[in-house]
Amino acid sequence: MKVSVLQEARYGYQPKLPVVLRNPIDTIKPVNGAPTRSVADQEKIKALFPKTYGLSKVSVEKGENPDCGEKRNVGVILSGGQAPGGHNVISGLFDALKKANPKSRLFGFLGGPSGITDDEYVEITEDLLRWYRNTGGFDIIGSGRTKLETEEQFRKCAAVCRKHGIGAIVIIGGDDSNTNAAVLAEYFKGNDIPVQVIGCPKTIDGDLKNENIEISFGFDTATKTYSELIGNIERDAYSAKKYWHFIKLMGRSASHIALECAMQTQPNICLIGEEVQEKKQSLAQVVNTIADAVETRAADGNNFGVVLVPEGLIEFIPEMGVLIEEINELLAKEAKGYAACSGEAEQFAFISGQLSQKSQAVFNLLPAKIKKQLLMDRDPHGNVQVSRIETEKLLAEMVGNELAKRKKEGTYIGKYSPLTHFFGYEGRCAFPSNFDADYCYALGYNAFVLIAGGLSGYMSSITKLHKGVDNWQAGGIPITMMFHMEIRNGVSKPVIRKALVELKGKPFTYFAAHRDEWARKTCYTYPGAIQYWGPANVCDATTFTLGIEQS
Ligand code: FBP
Repeated sequence: MKVSVLQEARYGYQPKLPVVLRNPIDTIKPVNGAPTRSVADQEKIKALFPKTYGLSKVSVEKGENPDCGEKRNVGVILSGGQAPGGHNVISGLFDALKKANPKSRLFGFLGGPSGITDDEYVEITEDLLRWYRNTGGFDIIGSGRTKLETEEQFRKCAAVCRKHGIGAIVIIGGDDSNTNAAVLAEYFKGNDIPVQVIGCPKTIDGDLKNENIEISFGFDTATKTYSELIGNIERDAYSAKKYWHFIKLMGRSASHIALECAMQTQPNICLIGEEVQEKKQSLAQVVNTIADAVETRAADGNNFGVVLVPEGLIEFIPEMGVLIEEINELLAKEAKGYAACSGEAEQFAFISGQLSQKSQAVFNLLPAKIKKQLLMDRDPHGNVQVSRIETEKLLAEMVGNELAKRKKEGTYIGKYSPLTHFFGYEGRCAFPSNFDADYCYALGYNAFVLIAGGLSGYMSSITKLHKGVDNWQAGGIPITMMFHMEIRNGVSKPVIRKALVELKGKPFTYFAAHRDEWARKTCYTYPGAIQYWGPANVCDATTFTLGIEQS
């Protein structure tokens, strides 16, 4: 196989482990801490998860673990969107498993959760893994978004595990995939099926986090990659002084990615969806805020700038959020009628005709392209695919219209030339930063320790991340602890609570204290490319968000 020079060099990188995990594998084990309760809706969650509710948090500590060397077959699944470091979770899991017993086997299920129900797998061996260590992507086994939720799927999982003698499955995924992991763990326990389930926190979106899961893997690398690109664009804008760049950033509902990139690059404007929602800002108000900044900068002779737009913004603008919800319901309830429409115009009329009066007015004002994007298929978890809605183009155009109006009225005299970008897929498969390479390897390695400790329904957790690897701590968190009840597709369901940007939190407060200055002046900072070798403060530092949160 022909590989790049960097790829070859990264194969040789030895990820750093937290101190406790550096001990011989049979001398460490999970130790019970305090019992837990779910973050909300305790009685309901307890009733739905009688076997896995209320488990104790565990910390990994030194202590004899004689069962560790048992020969085991373990399955691993990559679930959902790619995030840098997935290969390292598998590497860490593989290395720990083989250290404990070289005869143990790791089954990599192909193409996401459907790999296990369809019994499609590849055995992970050193010969295979050596081509993937410390590299981005999920291509070693592929990923998918199939939702494991039906009794039939669970039965198939159990049958496949029985067939291969698999005693544990590691599911590497985001909030929805780890919700599935908890449901599967409960099913296995409730039916006396001897298969453990352990989750690992993955998603570039950064919305799977809480006091025990400090960051999901991939967020660090993805935000560094986007920030490098944003910095490059800022420098280009400052050099040419003729364009306003509207950059949409991935991240689904939460604006963590946009906020982190804003702190890394100090753009003129960064919209935060959660704030727009809290302040109930309409689309017109959002547009006016941007137009005001363009006008102020133009008055200083600066007809250029950079605007960051989180992809989830669209759902947070109140009238758009209501519209999207109404469309979600219609697409679910009136699927047949909608499918029978021939052509775009008929589809628009079919939907528009059944919307509330207010939503109808909003929908009818949108450009056809955006209408079409709002009607695209929902993902298997019922989410609208925000990555495919061109909010950055909608805003750039609407700001242009507003400025043209102001020009006519004689209040604005600048030049406005917008360019749009979307950074999303560019960051999901980047070579993991040293932080993500180490963190992911530790998550996978630790997942094995939890398995060897006989646990199920837990998420692998590595904490104290801002303190440097030597101070990292390893443990396990009962997944049900993160649950609350939420309406999904019209039904109340137990799911992991998504972490949105907290407007009273330290990162947002820091941003809010600086943004007026960044809007008026040109304060750009240029983070440059991720560095893999060199001084630790350049190569190993993690995100602003984590640094500020834990300062
Ligand atoms: P996960 O929540 O599965 O980690 O996905 C993250 C993400 O990259 C989102 O930021 C984005 O909206 C979505 O996936 C795009 O999905 P797809 O890869 O299916 O286009």
